[in-house]
This record gives sequence, C-alpha cells and structure tokens, in this order.
Amino acid sequence: MNIAILGGTGKEGAGLATRWALVGHSIIIGSRDPERAKTKAAELREHTHKLPIIGESNAEAARLGTVIVIALPAQGLAATLPEVRDGCRGKVVISTVVPLTFGGPRLFTPPPAGSAAEEAQALLAEARVVAAFHHIAAHELSETDHPIECDLLLCGADAAAKETVGELARSMGLRPIDVGALSNAGPLEGITAVLATINRRYKLKNSGIKITGL
Ligand SMILES: NC(=O)c1ccc[n+]([C@@H]2O[C@H](COP(=O)([O-])OP(=O)(O)OC[C@H]3O[C@@H](n4cnc5c(N)ncnc54)[C@H](OP(=O)(O)O)[C@@H]3O)[C@@H](O)[C@H]2O)c1
Repeated sequence: MNIAILGGTGKEGAGLATRWALVGHSIIIGSRDPERAKTKAAELREHTHKLPIIGESNAEAARLGTVIVIALPAQGLAATLPEVRDGCRGKVVISTVVPLTFGGPRLFTPPPAGSAAEEAQALLAEARVVAAFHHIAAHELSETDHPIECDLLLCGADAAAKETVGELARSMGLRPIDVGALSNAGPLEGITAVLATINRRYKLKNSGIKITGL
C-alpha cells in the first residue's frame, strides 16, 4: 500500500514509516518543507536497507498516498489540513493526533470538536477518518528489533476504512480492536495522557494498552 505520512519528519510519523516500510509498504514522508521530507526519507531509507520511502510536501504526499496518516501536533491541524483536502478526498485518513499539554502534568486538552480526530474529519469532510495509533509510542515504533507489546484501539464511522486500518495494524504485528464510532476518539486520545503520566511516574518510555477477555 502507498502510505502518506503528514508530519512524517517527526518521531511518531518516522516510526510508523519505518515499521511499515519493513513489512513491504511504500511510504511518502510529508512535511511543510519538501527538502526536509526528502532528507528524512533518505535517512529512513538507510535505516530500512533502502526500502521505498520518498519525501514530498504534505499536499503532494496526500495526493500520492492511498492511505494518509496525520502525524502532526494538534495545533497544526487547522493550518495544514485545508491544503491537503483534495488529496484526501474519498481516502482513508488515520489520525494519530493527541491534543496534550506538556510542561507539567500531561493534560488532555481537546479542541471544541471533542477530539483531534473529529476536528480532522470536520476539516476533511470527504475523507474517511479513523482514529488510531495514539497509544503506540514513537520509541516503540523505532526499536524495530522487537515486536510491539500493545493492542491497537481504533474508531471511526466507516467500517471499510476501519478494516483497512486493521490490516495496516496487523501488518506491523499489532492486534486491532474496533472501539466504535469516531465520537470515541476523545476517550482514546485522552488515554494517552494517562500513559504519558505513567511513563513519567515510573520512568518508562513505552507503557501501552492490552485488552483482556478477547
Ligand atoms: N511521539 C509519540 O510517542 C506519539 C505517540 C502517539 C501519538 N503521537 C501523536 O502523533 C503526532 C506527532 O507526534 P510527534 O511526536 O512526531 O510530533 P512532532 O515531532 O512535534 O511533530 C511532527 C511533525 O509535524 C510538523 N509540525 C510541527 N509543528 C507543526 C505545525 N504547527 N503545523 C504543521 N506542522 C507542524 C513537523 O514537520 P515539518 O516541520 O517537517 O513540517 C514535525 O516534524 C502528535 O499529534 C502526537 O500527539 C505521538
């Protein structure tokens, strides 16, 4: 699959790119600056033994991707998503975005839409937004010598889009769990504040979520 990662120059996007490239997907790293995207793509190609990873502007990455991943800070959505709207039309768009406030206790600070994923869906009305990957830390993604010990909780309005995201999760060894409508994105994003607090309290980098009873 061709996967475009908006903000793929950051830690989370680069980690996802690496994991997916290693299992055979083609990656387009997106950035506000195409040169920065090309530099990051070259770095990741070295790391993944020259697997197919290229760099483009966010808008061009969205145009080229079959699936688009939003790996931007929450405060970047309003400025970035309108310029990728055409490229995202009709496509599966994965929001990994967590609106967190740092600099003290990790606080979940959702936008008026209720969650970053619902804000993204409002800005990309014709895209099929699925919220996922909030609980998979960049640190875990980048340590590719071991599997990730986490479940992948996802939600969204479009069943086929969720199945596509589930396949992408399985391809990197994660068990996908559908937690319903996009209105559950707020609770999912909020759990990340809890995990970030656990990491801080217990000096971890990678606490995660596993659902029992399934
Ligand atoms: N880090 C984690 O462990 C983790 C785990 C789960 C979920 N997430 C979520 O994944 C998303 C990305 O996380 P990250 O740690 O990779 O973030 P990041 O490094 O802060 O940002 C990712 C990229 O977004 C672009 N960017 C930064 N500020 C921007 C702005 N104001 N407007 C538009 N683009 C901007 C930058 O790329 P360019 O300068 O190249 O455009 C940057 O490299 C966040 O929403 C985060 O909550 C992160």
